[in-house]
Amino acid sequence: MNYIGSKFKLSGFLKNGIKNAVAKPLGEYTFCDMFAGTCAVARAFQGEVGRIITNDREFYSFVLARHYIGNFAKNWDFSNLPYSMPHSKISQIRANELIENLNNEAKTPNIKGKIYRHYALGGGENRQYFSDKNAIRIDSIRIKIESLKSQRQISQDEYYFLLASLLESADKVANTASVYGAFLKNLKKSAAKDFTLRPADFRRDMGQVDSADSVDSVKLDKFGNSATLKDSAESVESRVNSADSSILKKSCGESNAEFVESRVNSANKYGESTESKIEFHTESRAESKAESHAKSAESKAKSHADSPPTNTIYEICENCEIYNENANDLIKRISGDILYLDPPYNAREYGANYHILNTIALYDDFTPRGKTGLREYEKSAFCKKNLVADALDYLIKNADFDYIFLSYNDEGLLGLGEIEEIFKKYGKYERMEQIYQRFKADSSRFCKQDSTTEYLHILQK
Ligand SMILES: C[S@@+](CC[C@H](N)C(=O)[O-])C[C@H]1O[C@@H](n2cnc3c(N)ncnc32)[C@H](O)[C@@H]1O
Repeated sequence: MNYIGSKFKLSGFLKNGIKNAVAKPLGEYTFCDMFAGTCAVARAFQGEVGRIITNDREFYSFVLARHYIGNFAKNWDFSNLPYSMPHSKISQIRANELIENLNNEAKTPNIKGKIYRHYALGGGENRQYFSDKNAIRIDSIRIKIESLKSQRQISQDEYYFLLASLLESADKVANTASVYGAFLKNLKKSAAKDFTLRPADFRRDMGQVDSADSVDSVKLDKFGNSATLKDSAESVESRVNSADSSILKKSCGESNAEFVESRVNSANKYGESTESKIEFHTESRAESKAESHAKSAESKAKSHADSPPTNTIYEICENCEIYNENANDLIKRISGDILYLDPPYNAREYGANYHILNTIALYDDFTPRGKTGLREYEKSAFCKKNLVADALDYLIKNADFDYIFLSYNDEGLLGLGEIEEIFKKYGKYERMEQIYQRFKADSSRFCKQDSTTEYLHILQK
């Protein structure tokens, strides 16, 4: 998936930097990707670290993490199979069967739901994020996934596999210049193709670095006028201000042990939201230091489950914890060895730029606002010049981790000196850097090369 600030292409630089900075082999460590996004970094480390924690405030990111990290089977076999999921907890045969049934219109009949109504021209709200036909398929499949879950025809692992597959596949036919802050006037070639659900693959769909950055000046028709993408996303942002998270959920991987209850907004066959209760189970098996982290995480999660903060979503799997929270709320409740931080580095809010992914993932009731149909979203302190330094300081101060790594580039809201000052308050500080070449489209859509310096700030606490 194209994602602003994706570290997919920088994962080699990050991995080397982190491996060289820590004292022991990665396998002895618990690693936390606190601003996981597409999970490109968590995915680069999974399989090597003892235990993995991910978090992101956006729900679509939680879905991706729940599949790419939560469905990742430890000790998997690199069997050189050409197809997608040799290391998934879900068998290839089962994955294919589920995907085929969902793509089959006889088994998953067409329904005009929220995506069609709000984000396709046929819905009558004058937005064209998807072709009519594709919007209807996305709706139909989304609704069917929810009904399979409520009828217990799919497991929790399969549910997130299918949701992640839907997000990745929908993104491929989106009629945008990369992010969802605005749509294009005419259907672009990829958006005019027929939608097909494809399995979210552990090796494919990894996200491209800063591709969204590359479209700032593409001309769009969002309000029937031409505008830059950056302008359009930001002009909409100023009209929304309150939190959208209406979901309270706590759930777990499904292996054994303890019952917890989960409340989610699910969709009925008419695409309307209903509330359903589901039972899931949690498992605790881990080793060495990772084991003690796992135990402490589980007990924190239990006490958390007794009295969960509002709007908290998390899962604890065999060797992972997956959260969907504000990082600064979560930080005091988790612990580990390596904390990797990749917060937003500028004012562009992810909740605005990827609002339709949240809508597909949540499929809840909401009121789309304005010409772009934005849903309400929470703003991030990391996107605010006047709040970002304090937010970072709070995170570092309260982190119960031995090593902290921060990715930030030279175009960020915080300067090098400001970051260094914060880090030095809490331990031994070092910094690595890499010149990073990216492509940026100019207004006439010709690409020119552009470079930034990507910094890795390192703290031994
Ligand atoms: C630069 S992106 C991370 C990209 C990610 N490393 C990747 O490779 O895909 C920043 C992420 O921080 C998340 N975010 C922003 N503010 C947050 C907050 N206060 N707490 C948790 N996540 C936040 C955004 O949703 C976004 O996914």
